[in-house]
Amino acid sequence: MPAGFSCAGRRSDESFARAQRVFPDGTSRVTIERDPTPLYIERGMGSYLADVDGRRFLDLNCNFTTLIHGHAFGPVVEALTHQLQRGSCFANPTESEIELAELLCSRIPHVDRVRFVNTGTEAVLFAIKAARVFTGRSKIAKLEGAYHGAYDWVEVSQAAAPDNWGEAIQPKSTAFYRGMPASVPEEVVVLRFNDVEGAHRLLSSNAHNLAAVVLDPMPSRGGLVAAKPDFMATVQEVTRNNGILVIADEVLNLRQSFQGASARYGLVPDVITMGKIIGGGLPIGAIGGREDVMKVFDASAGRPLLPQGGTFSANPLSMTAGLTAMRYLDHAAFAHLERLGDIVRDGIGRAISSRGAPLCVTGAASLFRIHPRAEIPNDYREVYPTPAGATLMKELTRFFAENGIILPCGAAASISTPMTGAEAGLIVDVFAGFLESRQDMLDTIAFRK
Ligand SMILES: Cc1ncc(COP(=O)(O)O)c(C=O)c1O
Repeated sequence: MPAGFSCAGRRSDESFARAQRVFPDGTSRVTIERDPTPLYIERGMGSYLADVDGRRFLDLNCNFTTLIHGHAFGPVVEALTHQLQRGSCFANPTESEIELAELLCSRIPHVDRVRFVNTGTEAVLFAIKAARVFTGRSKIAKLEGAYHGAYDWVEVSQAAAPDNWGEAIQPKSTAFYRGMPASVPEEVVVLRFNDVEGAHRLLSSNAHNLAAVVLDPMPSRGGLVAAKPDFMATVQEVTRNNGILVIADEVLNLRQSFQGASARYGLVPDVITMGKIIGGGLPIGAIGGREDVMKVFDASAGRPLLPQGGTFSANPLSMTAGLTAMRYLDHAAFAHLERLGDIVRDGIGRAISSRGAPLCVTGAASLFRIHPRAEIPNDYREVYPTPAGATLMKELTRFFAENGIILPCGAAASISTPMTGAEAGLIVDVFAGFLESRQDMLDTIAFRK
């Protein structure tokens, strides 16, 4: 097989060559997988994609876990077509935004009020600003390695590495890009995931300056491992005792249950950030939370404590697509996703143990992630791959693509509702095929423990 994305065909190569002339690196998102050429997509249908060279792939990326009903979901296409004929955006509210907000308020615990924005990044940004306004404090705490979008304060320590992450008991707040204002890392307390003692110590010693702890109950870049109950209990206790807000970032993990991830894992947040699945495939973000906190957005008596607008916020296309997609996500849909997720994770786990391969699988509900290490990682530092581990993961993604499956590299893979047991079985079979054909690589590779 030639080096590079072995499945990228001629037309993808040509498109990428064209793209190099208009984008700094040939793409418009840092997250695009390329090896070295990305696959250019012609269309999506259900859980499958067709690329511009006419090949078909089972899509486990689904636009970074957004498309929980897969591509071109019929009811969403129909509802959007209807809305498009009536207009795509207005400077006035539409009733569709009320309906989506009603659905979220009635379904997600601790969401009394909602505001819509256009991305998860924006949702996190406004949630943090809301916490700052509500508490009158500026610092936040976050987990090392956790991804929360592109707001500077949550970018701190997002890409921490062994040469700069500091002592385990006192993780350093590392800048994300050259030129990041020095004051930004100073305003961020970095916690290690599931480090109960560390969370207690670091949150308590910064308590009077902290506006919020931003916490994803199962951070995908942190390993896609659930927060331990005692870790969450500690965060809850210290925050409650010190007037610090808990912001649950569920932009990715709302899909973990009918009521979201905090409900599944027993977290009681003050604010929840949402995105991805609630837009039905269109751009969206939402901040939801306790009525008194959400009051900071209230402009009914003049300038609110926290002005929040946005040209496309609550546009009726995103509202309509999201409402339709969310209505179809009923209890039966979640049970179906959970069942397929279990089949995939169990099957992969069994293939690993039967070969004694130095790999493991994590995740829950409709998400899974494979790691190049034998033991389930506890936190980001253990997830951080060795060069050999990173090569192996790239090889795994390449093998999957060669066998007709898009598997995100070193990130969460997602199952969508159009999938059946046949697709779940295919994923497990291709993984077992990888272990069989790469036994030599698995034998020789040295892994971080
Ligand atoms: C947990 C989490 N928060 C925030 C974001 C940012 O969302 P967006 O890409 O819509 O800005 C993401 C995106 O992947 C995410 O996974």
